[in-house]
Amino acid sequence: MDKIVIKGGERLQGEVRVSGSKNAALPLLASSILADGESRIRNIPPLNDIKTMLALLKSIGLNVAYKNEAVKISGKAHTFEAPYELVKTMRASALVLGPLLAKYGSARVSMPGGCAIGERPIDLHLKALKAMGAEIELKHGYVIAGAKRLKGATIYFDIITVTGTENIMMAATLAKGKTVIENAAREPEVVELARALKAMGAKIDGEGSDVITIEGVNELGPLDYQVMPDRIEAGTLMAAAAATKGNVLIKNCDLPFMEALISKMKAAGIVIREEEGGLRVIGKRRLKSVDIKTLPHPGFPTDMQAQMMVLMSIASGLSVISETVFENRFMHVSELRRMGADIHTEGRSAIIKGKEKLSGAQVMATDLRASASLIIAGLVAEGTTEVSRIYHLDRGYDGLERKLAALGANIERVKEKRISK
Ligand code: EPZ
Repeated sequence: MDKIVIKGGERLQGEVRVSGSKNAALPLLASSILADGESRIRNIPPLNDIKTMLALLKSIGLNVAYKNEAVKISGKAHTFEAPYELVKTMRASALVLGPLLAKYGSARVSMPGGCAIGERPIDLHLKALKAMGAEIELKHGYVIAGAKRLKGATIYFDIITVTGTENIMMAATLAKGKTVIENAAREPEVVELARALKAMGAKIDGEGSDVITIEGVNELGPLDYQVMPDRIEAGTLMAAAAATKGNVLIKNCDLPFMEALISKMKAAGIVIREEEGGLRVIGKRRLKSVDIKTLPHPGFPTDMQAQMMVLMSIASGLSVISETVFENRFMHVSELRRMGADIHTEGRSAIIKGKEKLSGAQVMATDLRASASLIIAGLVAEGTTEVSRIYHLDRGYDGLERKLAALGANIERVKEKRISK
């Protein structure tokens, strides 16, 4: 297994390009199941989650070719199963459920297992599909679903769910009649998917608001699309620049979707200004403590919570970070404490007392965004930090260590020596 070794203290300087968005690409890839003809999707980074989704599309029988961050998908599915060995590595595999049911009337998808950051069930996805006329059975760890033809329905999500909204929006495109999704997720990736589906011929209104209306059609043409930049990778790079008191130009960020993050960072004393199609981020002085509460979009994104916690660990003063989306997304706290951070958690809130310095240590990644936060901590800590289990990182970042090294960080990926017992 690889690990990442960082010698702290370098200020990040230069410019860096943000890759395509993982959380936009995954539903877009799943939507190709709905299409007749050859779909072409560009700006798809070679992430492990992307590779898992491509393997899943191949396993159901589609022709999938991935080259230079672009994919071509054609053909018809002949099996309608998302097997456990794929789903257990990526819960977003559930995104094939809606499209398979809508296009082929049948799906057998392994229930996602547990996840470090929370239980993350898909009960709301299933409840909505049932309301659209699907027969759903849970057997031997699999969701077995069938429907002659899904019918439009009014769906109310008790909890705002991003992939739930995406799954039902895709299912509804080929259903008979009108579907209304109430309490829909408003994430930019949901808007991106709606835009792509409309380009394929779907009839969708209201995306980006909490009520999305879909009028079913009989067929959809192929997708020809360029994926939006990854706002969470952009935020992660911004946090790294700020933490190291650097000066970095982050190219091709999608500014309209980053208000909550940018305003919080500015409140912490980070200089952020728009410049030639990107964002200039300057960390001038010691950061100020700010309180953060994660919320569904347009609130502060939960996927930036761990990264902001590192900034608050070295800020002046006391800050409170409340995680309202997932019930167990503080796995990075104990690792940051090993690096000298003064953090303690009370339920879904973390109280952080900023310190002048963190100290390098051996730490362990527990989930995707926790990995990124430990790397940012290593960039500013005194001495050397080693982050192990970075397979978590590779699910959602395309060579983060390469991008940071190009900005001047003293960081490298090394093979972890197995300790013979
Ligand atoms: C998406 O996950 C993202 N993943 C997550 O990004 C992100 O953290 C999350 O949305 C919230 O923004 C993708 O888009 C592939 P939810 P998703 O359904 O859709 C509960 C990353 O770091 N819930 O919006 O799985 C759930 O347990 C990842 O890139 C139910 O109870 O999240 C959670 O507490 C991590 N039943 C809350 O809703 C359901 O049927 C929000 O989850 C569905 C969800």
